[in-house]
Amino acid sequence: MSKAGETVADKADTRARKPAKGDEPVLGPTGRPYQGFPTPKKLDGHGPARIIALCNQKGGVGKTTTTINLAAALAEYGRKVLAIDFDPQGALSAGLGVQTHDAPTIYDLLLDTKRDPHDAIVQTKVPGLDLIPANIDLSAAEVHLVNEVAREMILSHVLRRVAAEYDVILIDCQPSLGLLTVNALTAAHGVVIPLECEFFALRGVALLIETIDKVRDRLNPSITLDGLLATMYDPRTLHSREVLERIVEAFGDDVLETVIGRTVKFPDASVSGVPITEFAPEHPAAQAYLRLARELVARGAVA
Ligand SMILES: Nc1ncnc2c1ncn2[C@@H]1O[C@H](COP(=O)(O)OP(=O)(O)O)[C@@H](O)[C@H]1O
Ligand SMILES: [Mg+2]
Repeated sequence: MSKAGETVADKADTRARKPAKGDEPVLGPTGRPYQGFPTPKKLDGHGPARIIALCNQKGGVGKTTTTINLAAALAEYGRKVLAIDFDPQGALSAGLGVQTHDAPTIYDLLLDTKRDPHDAIVQTKVPGLDLIPANIDLSAAEVHLVNEVAREMILSHVLRRVAAEYDVILIDCQPSLGLLTVNALTAAHGVVIPLECEFFALRGVALLIETIDKVRDRLNPSITLDGLLATMYDPRTLHSREVLERIVEAFGDDVLETVIGRTVKFPDASVSGVPITEFAPEHPAAQAYLRLARELVARGAVA
């Protein structure tokens, strides 16, 4: 919670500030010259989708928050977006205000690949953003799929049947490197790795990148690393700045220039079941996700 006299917005504001002296370049938090990224061009038509997995086997790093808010930001720029909840915790579904009691979920599609995936697609309150939800049933999927033929490719098979209708499909992975995550990496064209600006942020990233490399060698030769996204950055703490510096040292230009600040607005927005871009559109954190969407379009990761 914020202390008296300190606004929450300050913590989340990772936009560049004017340098003290007029002739110094304006640097963003990653130390590179600050760029705003242009507003994406309108699309003439929709599809086929580029599929992006949001992946990190560590929990609590901002995968689900990023999926929700990036999806909403891309939808705001006129992209047709399908978000896939691929975590049995169902946080993405809850965060988008979707109930999953009786409705079909991604689990039903994985178990019966003849089933029409449209059965499980639900519209969210955000125009242009659809969701395939998940619930705790999904935790049984790994056990069921382990004896299937081409068990790593089942999600890919499901998504192929809807990809033509969307510009981008975002997969919110569960915090593990098990069969579900391998399915997500096999279905994906690209991976975004959210990293919390905290001690041990880089612990496990080598293993994740090794897993992506294995998937590239054996299952999905064209998968690319779309970028590492620093989240929960607090520019006022030396610690946060040092961690970000270390991430940039390790991964260079693979670190996305957009950095997501730490703010209590995210937990607040999750409770209300809407993305922050709708809940508090002027908030710096909403602006950060819009900028992330523009950066991914500028990098060619999204149409
Ligand atoms: N930028 C942020 N600032 C503050 N809290 C955040 C931020 N991003 C996410 N959170 C909170 O941190 C927790 C974990 O985030 P979440 O997106 O669920 O991570 P993951 O999906 O990787 O487990 C949630 O309570 C979420 O509301
Ligand atoms: Mg999550």
